[in-house]
Amino acid sequence: MNDYQKQALVWDWDAYDETPEYEYWCECAGRFGKKVLIPMCAHGQAGAFMAQKGFLVTAFDITPEMISEGKKRYGKIDGLKLVEADLLDLDLDEKDFDFAFIAGNGDLHLLQSVRAVERALRSVRSHLRPGGCLALELTLPAGESFSYPKRAFQPRVPGYSDKKVWKENEGRYDAGEKRHYISQTVYIEDENGTESFTQSVCLQYYEREVILALLKQCGFDTVNEYSDRQKEPWKPGGDFWAAEAIKSIG
Ligand SMILES: C[S@@+](CC[C@H](N)C(=O)[O-])C[C@H]1O[C@@H](n2cnc3c(N)ncnc32)[C@H](O)[C@@H]1O
Repeated sequence: MNDYQKQALVWDWDAYDETPEYEYWCECAGRFGKKVLIPMCAHGQAGAFMAQKGFLVTAFDITPEMISEGKKRYGKIDGLKLVEADLLDLDLDEKDFDFAFIAGNGDLHLLQSVRAVERALRSVRSHLRPGGCLALELTLPAGESFSYPKRAFQPRVPGYSDKKVWKENEGRYDAGEKRHYISQTVYIEDENGTESFTQSVCLQYYEREVILALLKQCGFDTVNEYSDRQKEPWKPGGDFWAAEAIKSIG
């Protein structure tokens, strides 16, 4: 069982209200149309919110357990399709989406090579209508390596009434490789006692220029770059980078 399969049951351990983030995505998508594609969606919570606001959403994830848990929670929502699919090899029936976004929690950084990112961009492009938009959010690589000791995280708002879930994280960042190695232990306490599992994730960071070049190579015109979700025009210095790239004609 891989790390995301293990996490699927407790993915929504923190029931903190993410409405502002989901409203942000509604606003971004609404400028392009109603049909929204959400890669790497986990349970599809953002998609569920957007579908309830009237968008026609297809949200997909490679981990079957994520999609089946998502269907238990959101399967009855009109306008939402939850699909098991691989972003690197995507071939959905519909290929006329107005808007797609890869953001939050470092999703693009789960792709471990430039070649993988290129495949992902080509996959998304082939599912957008001409003039459709891909929004990306990335963490830019830090110049210095660092490490941090184990820290415990409690949910801001507990997600479950029948169990208590908390996490411990420790990690290190290698500036040479631009890789962030995170080791996380998830604890689940219920009436039968406490169980835990440890999982590892590696986030590969990419320079802005690398992603801009890939976008161009894959048939996108990058029309906007931002430094934050208030859409301040991008300027060097921070570690957050967002871009809106339009599927070019041809
Ligand atoms: C950080 S989690 C998802 C976060 C999600 N966007 C959210 O905000 O809840 C990353 C997800 O990407 C999925 N994933 C990883 N590689 C994938 C791929 N090649 N295609 C589709 N999904 C993938 C994992 O199964 C996992 O559910």
